[in-house]
Amino acid sequence: MSNDAGALDDLLHEERRFPPPEGFAEGAVMSDPGVWAEAAEDREAYWASWAAELDWFQPWSRVLEWTPPHAQWFTGGTLNVSYNCLDRHVEAGRGDRPALIWEGEPGDTRTYSYAELLDEVSRFANALKGLGVERGDRVTIYLPMIPEATIAMLACTRIGAIHSVVFGGFSPDSLSDRNNDAEAKVLITADGGWRRGGVVALKANADIALEDSPTVESVVVVARGGALTEQTPVDMADGRDHWYHDLVAAADAECPPEKMDAEDTLFILYTSGTTGKPKGVVHTTGGYLTQVYATTKAVFDLRDDDVYWCTADVGWITGHSYIVYGPLANCAQVVMYEGAPDAPDRGRFWQLCEKYGVTIFYTAPTAIRAFMRWGESWPQSYDLSKLRVLGTVGEPINPEAWMWYHEVIGGERCPIVDTWWQTETGGAMITPLPALTTTKPGTATRPFPGIDVAILDNDGDPTHSGYLAITSPWPSMLRTIWGDDERYRRTYWSKWDGLYFPGDGAKLDADDYVWILGRVDDVLNVAGHRIGTAEVESALVDHPAVVESAVVGKSHEIKGESIASFVTLKEGIDATDDLMSELRDHVGHKIGAIAKPEVVVFTAELPKTRSGKIMRRLLRDIAEGRTVGDTTTLADPAVVKRLQELHEADEG
Ligand code: PRX
Repeated sequence: MSNDAGALDDLLHEERRFPPPEGFAEGAVMSDPGVWAEAAEDREAYWASWAAELDWFQPWSRVLEWTPPHAQWFTGGTLNVSYNCLDRHVEAGRGDRPALIWEGEPGDTRTYSYAELLDEVSRFANALKGLGVERGDRVTIYLPMIPEATIAMLACTRIGAIHSVVFGGFSPDSLSDRNNDAEAKVLITADGGWRRGGVVALKANADIALEDSPTVESVVVVARGGALTEQTPVDMADGRDHWYHDLVAAADAECPPEKMDAEDTLFILYTSGTTGKPKGVVHTTGGYLTQVYATTKAVFDLRDDDVYWCTADVGWITGHSYIVYGPLANCAQVVMYEGAPDAPDRGRFWQLCEKYGVTIFYTAPTAIRAFMRWGESWPQSYDLSKLRVLGTVGEPINPEAWMWYHEVIGGERCPIVDTWWQTETGGAMITPLPALTTTKPGTATRPFPGIDVAILDNDGDPTHSGYLAITSPWPSMLRTIWGDDERYRRTYWSKWDGLYFPGDGAKLDADDYVWILGRVDDVLNVAGHRIGTAEVESALVDHPAVVESAVVGKSHEIKGESIASFVTLKEGIDATDDLMSELRDHVGHKIGAIAKPEVVVFTAELPKTRSGKIMRRLLRDIAEGRTVGDTTTLADPAVVKRLQELHEADEG
């Protein structure tokens, strides 16, 4: 387990309670405390009432068909996601309302109204059709945080193409793996994006990936604009590569939305698991949109005059559900920012909140801990008085960070919604509702109405401390793993019969609030990003100097976890500092900078059982500098002592 269970026991004695602020319930989206009971009474009817707030071309005939582990929601219904995010708002007379309020890291800005966004999305959708993209085809999107990321996603949904967004920080190898697994026909990228005053050159990375992406027929390149585009030369392959602006300028602005079946695949998003190969999590159309629409509205208490900002990247599920689909389906005014929180200085987020009058702010604990460290003077230099709801997601939030968020950012007046969910769940699952829930620092509280969870032991019996389980199907659940339904069954549905296992440990307190303990499998959570230990291990052994490696998580003040690796080199190869940084770079090159191990310990051998299984538990103890647990099953107990010495020398 990545988190220390002892520390959690302390948390369960948390005495602080934060009821919804006085008057908050007035005009709130959800203010009836009976909503949980009402949803529990008829879960399907509850979700159907949310689905009815979307626009359907053809109504569904059945709310749910459940043949474990396969669910179908709103069967028989047809709809289009881009229509629900754009057209219907324009048709309702809200075309002039700002949809996307974007700011680049250097300070350049662009705002799209709903009508303008519809126009741009329709043109780009036609351009994709012109490249031969048809319903069901896969399109990889590898873009920085620029409006074209949202536009490209919506354009795919308009024509029924399946997008696979790949985070811009991933390496060429990661990109080609994803292109190939999804058999993508088109890749959409940009010359680059700004990050901490520097340029992340995406097209150059894409070119390397394309050497090994045989299914990709066409590439669309966005000119990010400004100084970046002037400074960043791009090679355009004749016939294959096209400039986004040329395609859009030549395209027709009318593009009728495809009528998609509720269960047609909307997108694939790759996420780390316990093996080296990322999983293509498959989300479909009607159920996904219903739940992200409902949770955006209810969890953030989204009202008409709100200005909403989620600081995630569109390359992650949070960006999909809570920058693009949930907010736009709600006709929200969405702020989007390209760059880093400390560029040009550590006040950037707060400067943006003041400038755009942000009222709802959604970020991650790792960011909050960084802000804490940077000091109160940064947020205090800006007017944050418009903020009224704060959110957090990605990992358990420690109470100190929660309190700081509450006091310094929220001015003690904003409810905090700590939302537990996953790439696989598509939308928020365990979360406070701001007008109804009394929060406690460190817990995501209770399941959203219409969601059923339990804490179970290995046998599937209820307990107060064990594994989190989701006990009924939910609309935005993943439907399968792309091309590997067997892996879907094995990963999520084999622990207990007919119940979903998210991979997290959890505890239940006396108020039936859920406290998430962290992952119980070999998946790390580094700065809110999921990284499989096996992925990093295979990247390490891919280096010619390495025979064997083992990777574990190590607690980290800001990132939550960082990566510690133990590496055995080939005979005759010297363990040097240069090799250490070469290995870190190699992992960065294979996966992306987020996966670079912080610690590399060279060791002649790894602690193994007599049957040859690496004892990660011991490696975790060593990495944390803890007293090492039971070593009696080790083939060679002396290994641990040697490793401890090596690790201490490395730390020193
Ligand atoms: O361990 C849980 C943690 O993040 C995992 C999901 O990661 P990912 O698929 O990348 O999605 C992150 C954004 C939704 C979960 O299995 N996690 C996420 N949110 C929380 C959390 N742990 C505790 N509290 C949360 N609020």
